[in-house]
Amino acid sequence: DDAYLITHALAKDTLSRLRDVETEQVAFRKGLVKLGRICGYEIIDGAMETEYVTVETPLTETTGERVRGLDDVVIVNVLRAATPFVEGLLKAFPRAKQGVISAGRDEEAGMNDEGEFPITIDYVKIPEITDDDTVIVADPMLATGSTMCAVLDHVLGSTDADPADVFVLSAVSAPDGLLRVGREFPDADLLTVAIDDHLDDDGYIVPGLGDAGDRAFR
Ligand code: PRP
Repeated sequence: DDAYLITHALAKDTLSRLRDVETEQVAFRKGLVKLGRICGYEIIDGAMETEYVTVETPLTETTGERVRGLDDVVIVNVLRAATPFVEGLLKAFPRAKQGVISAGRDEEAGMNDEGEFPITIDYVKIPEITDDDTVIVADPMLATGSTMCAVLDHVLGSTDADPADVFVLSAVSAPDGLLRVGREFPDADLLTVAIDDHLDDDGYIVPGLGDAGDRAFR
């Protein structure tokens, strides 16, 4: 149940561009793709091991290294803001299996006294998960954590397997959301590029980056 910051300088650079209100749709979408790629590389660097392999170069035999478990990755795309983010992640994990889940906050209902939103789930398609898998649930925004908790219920409830790692990956998180997901899913590791200051009365992350779905898709 640990939370880790992704501290690569390019991740911070890219996130800062995403925060900028002047960043328009195309640049915003491309920024999310880029950030997904960087986060993917950081997950590999921080959480995956390499093993020695024998490689035949055109000249001789030598020892090389290969990342272990690169083929045993399941990436869950939380529609819709995660779509460009996942596109970037797939550059780091090209052979990952992909799950898709459509989960959205019921903004009409609003936030309750516990700071939670009711979540509507319309579509769920999760590939088979095995004990060997590294599961990465990606959503650029973790605000109240309501969406992520509902998603993890479905993803982890869909399998009897005990995956090797479960990562919750977001670009920007609010402290409330990290605490809630950490409390409800103590076995998941939480990864984020930034932990922002607070949530406003509408459940928006401040300073945040606005509505990532709208900015990427509008
Ligand atoms: C946003 C965001 C997360 C969720 C985070 O999605 O992409 O999924 O809100 O908020 P929470 O932690 O308080 O649940 P939104 O519901 O706006 O849907 P969209 O991605 O389709 O725009």
